[in-house]
Amino acid sequence: MATIKDVSKLAGVSVATVSRYLNKNGYVSKDAADTIAAVIEKLNYRPNTIARSLAGMKTATVGLMVPDILNPFFPELARAIEDAANDYGYTVMLCNTDNDSIKEQKYIDTLLHKQIDGIIISSYTIKPEHLTQLQKNSIPVVLMDNVFSSDSVVSLTVENRRGGELAVEHLLTQGCSKIAHICGPLSITSSRERTNGYENASRGTDWFSPSLIGYSDFTVKGGYTAMRELLALHPNLDGVFASNDLMAAGALRALQEAGKNVPRDVKVIGFDGIGLEMMTPELSTIAQPIYELGKTAMDSLIGLIRQETDIVTDQTFPVTLVAKQSTMTHN
Ligand code: RIB
Repeated sequence: MATIKDVSKLAGVSVATVSRYLNKNGYVSKDAADTIAAVIEKLNYRPNTIARSLAGMKTATVGLMVPDILNPFFPELARAIEDAANDYGYTVMLCNTDNDSIKEQKYIDTLLHKQIDGIIISSYTIKPEHLTQLQKNSIPVVLMDNVFSSDSVVSLTVENRRGGELAVEHLLTQGCSKIAHICGPLSITSSRERTNGYENASRGTDWFSPSLIGYSDFTVKGGYTAMRELLALHPNLDGVFASNDLMAAGALRALQEAGKNVPRDVKVIGFDGIGLEMMTPELSTIAQPIYELGKTAMDSLIGLIRQETDIVTDQTFPVTLVAKQSTMTHN
């Protein structure tokens, strides 16, 4: 089997240059890169990733931890991360944690064992000690939807609070006069901020009451249950802002079962923009730039892995109102 030394010898460059080429890390001239690529092809050279990682080199593998792969938000995010990883010559190991902190810890241990170069974490249950454990092992981290101040952790969020305000402002413009809210897991910054946005825009109105807030978990079932409870407390509510699209879908079902027409009797808006086109009525939402978030996550992780100095550690992305049938005004 050909070795890195064979490649270096035949290409007429140093082993260090071949190594920089393989790791996509550091300068290699275009001529040298072309020659190395041709020699690798000719010798059918396959870098031994285990030996390379034992030698302290990169494995070109990153972990991606998501809480619920069945939520369309996460496949779209994973797609963007995978596309970008592919451009960098990296492979992504997907870990679905089911919101289970024990499963999360097990995955972190496994990924460390496999010598990943970095990790992107989207989680409702991540604990500071998990992040500290990764930091102790010098594993760069990109954290989605949560903020953890540190030089080796990049946090990516969207304008969650503004999104919550926008949702309520839109429902008010569409004629709603009693708006309920279904909030997501309070353990994550993004979810709390969306609820803060709802409260900012509602508090001070003559209809607001804290009992208009239902507590839930970002699932369809959770949204359905919360909506039933809210309807029992406030049968005359006429608007609902759910903190993600799946909960909005559950709320819609509960409203329809209760004989409410959406949007005539109650208007509903979600958050995420996962494009649930099959729903009737089509769902209005506060859309996140999901693909851009995923690509930025991977770009930032590569920057951390390469120890670049110009990394922005806290980044916030804009959200946009996408008005569809579920909040349309009927004359
Ligand atoms: O729907 C999934 C939610 O989890 C999204 O809103 C995303 O921001 C993440 O926190």
